[in-house]
Amino acid sequence: MAHDTRELNRRQDHFTGRSDIWLFGYGSLIHKVDFPFLEARDARIQGWARRFWQGSHDHRGTPEAPGRVLTLVEAPDETCVGVAYRVTPDVFEHLDHREKNGYLRLTIDMTFIRPPHQGRHANGLIYIAGPNNAAWLGPASEAAIARQIARSQGPSGRNDDYVLKLDAALQDMGAEDPHVAAIARHLRASDSSHAHPSADREY
Ligand code: BEZ
Repeated sequence: MAHDTRELNRRQDHFTGRSDIWLFGYGSLIHKVDFPFLEARDARIQGWARRFWQGSHDHRGTPEAPGRVLTLVEAPDETCVGVAYRVTPDVFEHLDHREKNGYLRLTIDMTFIRPPHQGRHANGLIYIAGPNNAAWLGPASEAAIARQIARSQGPSGRNDDYVLKLDAALQDMGAEDPHVAAIARHLRASDSSHAHPSADREY
C-alpha cells in the first residue's frame, strides 16, 4: 500500500445517511485536537494495543530520517483506553490529510468508560496503519524505539514531544499505557534535549 492513504479513505462508504459519527482517538488525536467535535467521551476498545511501529515521514520525521508514531496492533487480551469524539463527516477531509501517511479508516466498536454513559457501546471509526503500508517500521525494543525517537523531528515538531505529551495525557486520564510509559522513561533518562540542542523545551 502507498504512503498516501487519502484516496483509499475517500473511497470508503462510512458516512452515507449520517450527520455525525464517533471517532476513537488513541494517540495524537488525544493531545492534538485541531478539529471541531460535538462531544468527547473517554472510551475503550478491546483487542488492540498501542505500538510505536509506524514510520512518520511527514509529521515527526522526514523521508530520509523517519520518526516513529503510534499505530494499533491486534492483541486479543488487551484493552486500549482513548477518547471518543462525536464529529460531523466533513471533519474527515482534514483528518484524512493529517493521517495520510499509511492510516486507513476502519470501523470499530467502542465502550464508554465514565458515568453517565459508562458501559454503553457505540460503533465508530478509527485510524490504523497496518503492516502492509509503505511507512511501516515494525517492532524493535523499547530502548531502540526511544533512541530513534530522540533523534527524530519533522514539520510537526520533535518526535519526543509527541511521546511525552501523549504519556502525560494518558496519565491525566488515569489510563497509563505500559508501552508509551516505557519509551517516555527511556527518553527522560537519556535527556533527549541533547539530541536537539537548539530547540526550545516545552515540558
Ligand atoms: C489517533 O490518535 O487515534 C491516531 C493516531 C495516529 C494516527 C491516526 C490517529
